[in-house]
Amino acid sequence: MALLAQLYEAQWVVVSIAALLYALERCRACLRLSAFKGPSSTDRSEVWHALTILTWRSHLIYKDVTDKYGTIARVGLNELLTSSPEVLVHMNAVRSGYTRATWFNRSFQVDEEKHTRRRQQMAAGYTGRENPAYGGIKADADLNNYLTSGEEGLTIITMAAALGLSPVRQWGPIARAFGPSEEDHSGFGKMLATARSLIDSRLEQSTKEKSDMLASFIRHDPSREELLGAAILQVLAGSDTTATAVRSIMLYVITPPGVYARLQAEIDEAVETGKVPAAPAIIPDSVAGGLGYLQAVVREGLRIHPPVTDIVPKKVPPNGDTITIDGNPVFIHGGTNISYCAWGVHREHDGEEKLATIRRTTELIFRYGKCQCQCLGRPIAWMEVTKVIFEVSHHWITSIRV
Ligand code: HEM
Repeated sequence: MALLAQLYEAQWVVVSIAALLYALERCRACLRLSAFKGPSSTDRSEVWHALTILTWRSHLIYKDVTDKYGTIARVGLNELLTSSPEVLVHMNAVRSGYTRATWFNRSFQVDEEKHTRRRQQMAAGYTGRENPAYGGIKADADLNNYLTSGEEGLTIITMAAALGLSPVRQWGPIARAFGPSEEDHSGFGKMLATARSLIDSRLEQSTKEKSDMLASFIRHDPSREELLGAAILQVLAGSDTTATAVRSIMLYVITPPGVYARLQAEIDEAVETGKVPAAPAIIPDSVAGGLGYLQAVVREGLRIHPPVTDIVPKKVPPNGDTITIDGNPVFIHGGTNISYCAWGVHREHDGEEKLATIRRTTELIFRYGKCQCQCLGRPIAWMEVTKVIFEVSHHWITSIRV
C-alpha cells in the first residue's frame, strides 16, 4: 500500500519518464533507416504503407518509389523495398540467414522449421501429377461460389494485412465466429469440406498403385489436418496466379502487332507436321516445351505482368547485413524487413537490357533461389499456362488471324 501511495504521489514523474522513454524509442525507430530515402512520413509512421496497400494499386506505387528513391527505398519505420535482383537473390541464398517476416502471418507458415517440413512433405506431389478435382471444370461454372469466395477472402486478407489486423483475424474466437466453416453450403467453408471428403476417400484406397498428388502427400505421413492444409494451399496458391498469368499473356499476345501472327505460324507448323494430336486431344507438354516462340511468349508475358506482386518481406539476420547497392556497401540493421518490388524488378529491363538478364530476373517470378520459399507449383503452372495459351490461340481466336 505504501508503495502504491508513493507511486501515486510521484505520478507525474512516472508519466514523464514513460513519455521520455517512448519519445527516445520513436527517435531510434525513425533514425534506424535514415540512410535510405523514401516517401515523406515513412520515417515517422506506417500510415503511408497501409494506405498504399489499400489503393489496390500498390505494385505500381512501389515501382514509382524505387524509380524515384533508388533500388532500395524506405517505405516504413522498419520497412525497406527493393527492385534489385541482386539483393533479392542474396536474401534468398542458402544459409543467407534471412527469415520470413511476420507479414507472412496472413496465410503462410512463419515457423521456418515447420514450414520446411511441410514443404518436404508436399514437394514430391508437385511433379505434374493429377490434382484433386473440385468439379468446377466439369460444371463449367463457379461451383459453390469457390471463385467468388476466393476473391472475397483475398480482399479480407489484404485489408487485414494493410491495417495490421492479421493477428486479430486469425485469433481463434474471431476466426470461428467470422471465418469459413465446413458446415457452410458454399464458399471457402464448402471447399474445406469437399477437400476433407476427397482426402477421406483417398485415404481408404491404396496409395501404392496410382500416384496422384494426394497419394504423394499421404506417403509422407502427414496428419489429417496437414493433408487438408496441403490440399487447400495448392488451390489457393495455384488458381488466381495461373488465371492472372493466362489473362495477361493473352492480352499481350493479341495487342502488339505481329505477336499473334508469329505465334499462330508456329502453331500451324506444329499442327501441319503432325506434332500435335487432332482435337479434342490437347497438346502434350513435351511438344509445348519444344515450341520456342510459345515459350518466349509465356516468359515475356509473365515478366511484363508478374501475377504475384506480394511484397513478401524478409527479415535481415539479427547481427545485420552489409549489401552492395550501386557498387557501394551499405549496412542494414538486424530485424529490418526488406520487401520485393515486383514491377520494379521486372520492368527495369525494358529496352536494351540483355536477354540473359531478363531470363535470370524472370525466375524471380516464382521466387528463385535455394530458399525454402520458391513456388512448388512452378512445373504445373508452366505446363498449364503454355497449354492454355497454345489451345486458345489455336482454336478460339483464329477469327482474328492476321
Ligand atoms: C503463373 C502461376 C504461378 C506463379 C507466378 C506462382 C508464384 C509463386 C510465388 C512467388 C510463390 C512464393 C510466395 C512466397 O514467397 O511466399 C509461390 C508459392 C507457392 N506456389 Fe506458386 N505460383 C504459380 C502457380 C502455382 C500453381 C499452379 C501451384 C499448384 C499447383 C502453386 C503452388 C504453390 C505453393 C504450394 C506455394 C507455397 C510454397 C511454400 O509454402 O513454401 N503455384 N508461388
